Amino acid sequence: MRKVHNWDEWIDYFRYWQDSIGLDRQELRRFKFEVKFGEPEATNIEFGHYQGQQKWPTLMHIPDQRIRDALQNLIVYQGDTEFASVEQQRNLLTNPPSDYDLQSITRVMCEEMRHGWQMSYLLCEHFGDEGKREAQKLLERRAEEGERLLGSFNEIVDNWLDFFTYTQFIDRDGKFQLKMLSVSAFDPLARSMGPMLKEESYHLGTGNSGLLRVVKAGRVEPELIQKFFNKWVPTAFDLFGTDHSSSAQWAYVWGLKGRFDERENSMTPDKALLNDYARQLYRDECVRLVDRLNDYLPDRDRWLKVPDIKFNRRIGQHARQQYTVDGQPMSPERYDAYLASVTPGASDYARLHEIMKDRDWIEQRKASQN
Ligand SMILES: [Fe+2]
Ligand SMILES: [Fe+2]
Repeated sequence: MRKVHNWDEWIDYFRYWQDSIGLDRQELRRFKFEVKFGEPEATNIEFGHYQGQQKWPTLMHIPDQRIRDALQNLIVYQGDTEFASVEQQRNLLTNPPSDYDLQSITRVMCEEMRHGWQMSYLLCEHFGDEGKREAQKLLERRAEEGERLLGSFNEIVDNWLDFFTYTQFIDRDGKFQLKMLSVSAFDPLARSMGPMLKEESYHLGTGNSGLLRVVKAGRVEPELIQKFFNKWVPTAFDLFGTDHSSSAQWAYVWGLKGRFDERENSMTPDKALLNDYARQLYRDECVRLVDRLNDYLPDRDRWLKVPDIKFNRRIGQHARQQYTVDGQPMSPERYDAYLASVTPGASDYARLHEIMKDRDWIEQRKASQN
């Protein structure tokens, strides 16, 4: 295995990664390497133990090795999700429902690559040889091998309903993570977030409007859409981390990662419950968006819902326990069959593929001309 020593070598490696995952659409190949930093929104550290001191412009300014390690870890996790999502979405390039959708997925994938590049840039620029090694590893783990660092990013994105559900719920988790990093004490990370958040909002919009278009078209029954919500949303809850997480607590104390509403929230946080706090805010936002979808579903009994936080979790206090989508406890003997009945199975995928053969399963949009 060759080793990345400098930018040129990383970029070669990136091209090799593009080849190896089969990205040959020209727009994706012509990817421009652009690092973007927003204007500083605060010059002093905004919360935690070092509050009031000047933000750290380089690693040398960070007073403790443990803080540098935790910071590197946050950047690695963020970067890993960016490249993973491109691996997950690439299969959809061959069967877009319209040119409009092909344009928008191409934009989403280019921006995810840019986000991955931005994180790789920080790693290579600030974290020495170890940072370069980590930036290289971002291109070596593979979603389809289950090697990505977080559960959602090893799941299969099989079809365009998956894609819209993914961009609605998983990219929305991304928005929460980026916002929490945007108040970081490490200035280059904090200033990376403004431009990333701006791009990310397009991804969420793609998911939200995609789902609206599917619901309005009325071909895919709500019960089938619900199964895809049940597939993805619990993995998004997991992305917020464990309950009572000590690493979240330290990241807060050290000023590396704040609350989603850090700048507006004047209350002292319960530092033991930071992840739960973010997870709940995230769920509330999802509920509001799903309510808007239900405006187009006249039959109340068929309304879509956001699963309860306890349903089908893999990490945290509810991990591997048996709860219904509504959060009711269930007997372990019945649970496996229940879970199979509320998440998409082989026959659901087959049925969806069948529906998707016609173009009328989604409200059509026109592609822009540029
Ligand atoms: Fe991203
Ligand atoms: Fe995204």
